[in-house]
Amino acid sequence: MTHAYPLVAAQDPEVHQAMLAELRRQEEQIELIASENHTSPAVLEALGSVLTNKYAEGYPGRRYYGGCEHVDTAEDLARNRLKELFDAEAANVQPSSGTQANQAAMLAMAEPGDTILALELNHGGHLSHGHPKNASGIFYKFVHYGVDPETEHLDYDLVRKLAKEHRPKVLMAGASAYPRTIDFQALGAIAKEVEALFLVDMAHIAGLVAVDLHPSPVPHADVVTMTTHKTLRGPRGGAIVCKKDWIKKINSAVFPGSQGGPLMHAIAAKAVAFQEALDPSFRRYQEQVVANAKALAAGLEQRGCRLVGGGTDNHLMMVDLRGPKGPGITGRIAEDSLHRANITVNKNLIPFDPEKPMQTSGIRMGTPAVTTRGFDVDDMERLSGWIDLVLRDPENEKVIQEVGEEAAALCRMKPIYPHMEAVQS
Ligand SMILES: Cc1ncc(COP(=O)(O)O)c(C=O)c1O
Repeated sequence: MTHAYPLVAAQDPEVHQAMLAELRRQEEQIELIASENHTSPAVLEALGSVLTNKYAEGYPGRRYYGGCEHVDTAEDLARNRLKELFDAEAANVQPSSGTQANQAAMLAMAEPGDTILALELNHGGHLSHGHPKNASGIFYKFVHYGVDPETEHLDYDLVRKLAKEHRPKVLMAGASAYPRTIDFQALGAIAKEVEALFLVDMAHIAGLVAVDLHPSPVPHADVVTMTTHKTLRGPRGGAIVCKKDWIKKINSAVFPGSQGGPLMHAIAAKAVAFQEALDPSFRRYQEQVVANAKALAAGLEQRGCRLVGGGTDNHLMMVDLRGPKGPGITGRIAEDSLHRANITVNKNLIPFDPEKPMQTSGIRMGTPAVTTRGFDVDDMERLSGWIDLVLRDPENEKVIQEVGEEAAALCRMKPIYPHMEAVQS
């Protein structure tokens, strides 16, 4: 075992303190934020490599700078592996984030002022799908569809109705907080019916799609964006796959349309992560992610919590904290109390939520990160009991302390980075 980050420690103790504290936080707390994961040490190594020094505006074989032959190799590997992973015709691995991938996709597919039909943010959509203060909402005219008030499942009839009424240039699908399977085939058919382009943001479910545990949008969509750091378990970043006919426009929309020099260290790390995702062990990992989500959801339901949409088909669930048998607290209080008990979740608006975004009536939880460190369904059953105890008595410091100790003990049994020691060197 080596002390973590010895060079930063020697040179810059202030930054080192923050890095160590974050390593310790990740090791000692149960991470249930659905959009987070823990990358492999190999991905971390690529991220910390000399590739960060290289300017490489352009694409492999056509760069605006000399000396790009080795970063070309890394980018070609990343692109080819991504195409293989999703059985896609073409790929762009340069977007620095999911939001920038979406921005580039919209730039390629629509003109400013065009109508885009997407999932309502309060029903699980993402801010890059038309939030009024995001570039998407500023440059395009967004119309939003939502979930059915009874089932809280996507309302495909409503999508069709709105699509016929508004004739959008682009129909967009994908979500940040939707626990059920998305029928991309049905949405693709609606897009065809109204002659709209079909854009899918599969940021959350990319890892599940890669191993066929969620139906793929790739055969149905013109363009598919994703993040690489959620279920896909790579470095923080974005990527795009598309039909061959779209790649010229997409490449131009990424660079020079919305970015300058690509982060070549991140692209190398994406290549490493995509190879990991092509390995058969990645399918077993994703199966466990789904099994763990189902076990956590079942444990919470048995204890009287109401799950939005009636449960989960994927890696995440939304808990409605209200209702006759619910704990009756806001998402904000739940997030704070669970955090003090070493369990990290995020407050989240639920469909038709009467609370404000900083309060909310719900929390969102997901299993990608805990599954990476080896938690199994028995751990999920115990975890659901701890979460329930804290939610039903959120001011009880004794309960919080006891749960916190149990959570930390479980974490110690399942270290994430056993080769790194989170102590001052
Ligand atoms: C569906 C969806 N798209 C895009 C993003 C944005 O990703 P980033 O934070 O990398 O910009 C997110 C992030 O949570 C997301 O959930």
